[in-house]
Amino acid sequence: MRVFVTGHKGYIGPHLVELLKSAGHTVTGCDINLFEEAKVAGLTKPDVDLIKDIRHLTAKDLEGHDCVMHLAAISNDPMGDLNPEITYRINREGSINLAKISKQAGVSKFLFSSSCSIYGKGINNDLDESAPVNPLTAYAISKIDVEKKLTEIADEHFCPVFLRNATAYGYSPVFRIDLVVNNLLACAFTKGDIRIKSDGEPWRPLIHCRDIARAFVALSDVPDQKVRAKAINIGANEENYQVKDVAAIVQNLIPSANIVFTGELGNDPRDYRVNFDRLYTILPDFKLDYTLKSGMKELYEKLKEMDFSENDFDGERFTRLKLLKKHLDKIPS
Ligand SMILES: NC(=O)c1ccc[n+]([C@@H]2O[C@H](COP(=O)([O-])OP(=O)(O)OC[C@H]3O[C@@H](n4cnc5c(N)ncnc54)[C@H](O)[C@@H]3O)[C@@H](O)[C@H]2O)c1
Repeated sequence: MRVFVTGHKGYIGPHLVELLKSAGHTVTGCDINLFEEAKVAGLTKPDVDLIKDIRHLTAKDLEGHDCVMHLAAISNDPMGDLNPEITYRINREGSINLAKISKQAGVSKFLFSSSCSIYGKGINNDLDESAPVNPLTAYAISKIDVEKKLTEIADEHFCPVFLRNATAYGYSPVFRIDLVVNNLLACAFTKGDIRIKSDGEPWRPLIHCRDIARAFVALSDVPDQKVRAKAINIGANEENYQVKDVAAIVQNLIPSANIVFTGELGNDPRDYRVNFDRLYTILPDFKLDYTLKSGMKELYEKLKEMDFSENDFDGERFTRLKLLKKHLDKIPS
């Protein structure tokens, strides 16, 4: 299969390129490389490495590909507050345009990286794909708008699929610490404190970033009629956790670390438990490789290997918002 991956130089993308290449697929990657400084190890090279804004692609760039896996985005809730226009221009208009030119170029499958964060403050504790969405940020609104538009342009030749990913964690060669699990563990590792910004009560579905990449690969193989214009939650029912549970696992790994409630987020309104049955109905043989416990243990070992420091934690290198602010000029309007 010839696969066009956008955002292949981000956090999830490098795992995806590696899995696709080792399964024998031909891969074109497309990214503007906003987070080069966050690279901590070598990346598997795609066959074609395009350094290009997704909004500048034309149908010609997409010709000859069987599948698009669209990950490129401003993947950060606070950035959406700081500058919602950039989030809408890339995540919404950019994604819709990419889908249209993919369809025009004859690409049959379009896997869109959506997010469980569209459920926002969940109205119940078992949110499946039919649950009402409740977006709380420009980021989440952009994801819903794209799902709606792609549903409109789906037809028998064009099969968009919406992977509503749980919150990612774990080691990636393009690392980030602005995700709840990575943040709590890296903080305990470097400062000796597990700093919980909420009251610890909110629920989050969690998934290792490599398992997200595995779900993309697995779904690319499913016959179109089973997944056309379908939203699919990506994660596992048993991998919903309260933030305080995450903190307890950190403390198990680093017993000397103290749990501190900083209260800086007040009452974090993002609170949702998600149901993942649809994924396992479509892919009965699919299973996550990681539990939160095993993924955190791996990350703990990697932090030691990287010699991850307090400067790394406080600095800009591994926090997307800080790098985005620094590199706003790299993002063409
Ligand atoms: N990380 C998570 O917890 C999570 C959860 C749910 C969904 N997702 C979604 O998965 C996707 C990947 O997430 P990630 O964590 O790897 O994000 P990331 O921020 O690490 O990577 C995004 C990549 O997209 C690239 N990019 C941004 N704008 C671009 C543009 N205009 N043209 C070309 N490239 C551009 C960046 O350079 C970066 O390499 C995103 O769509 C995100 O919304 C992520």
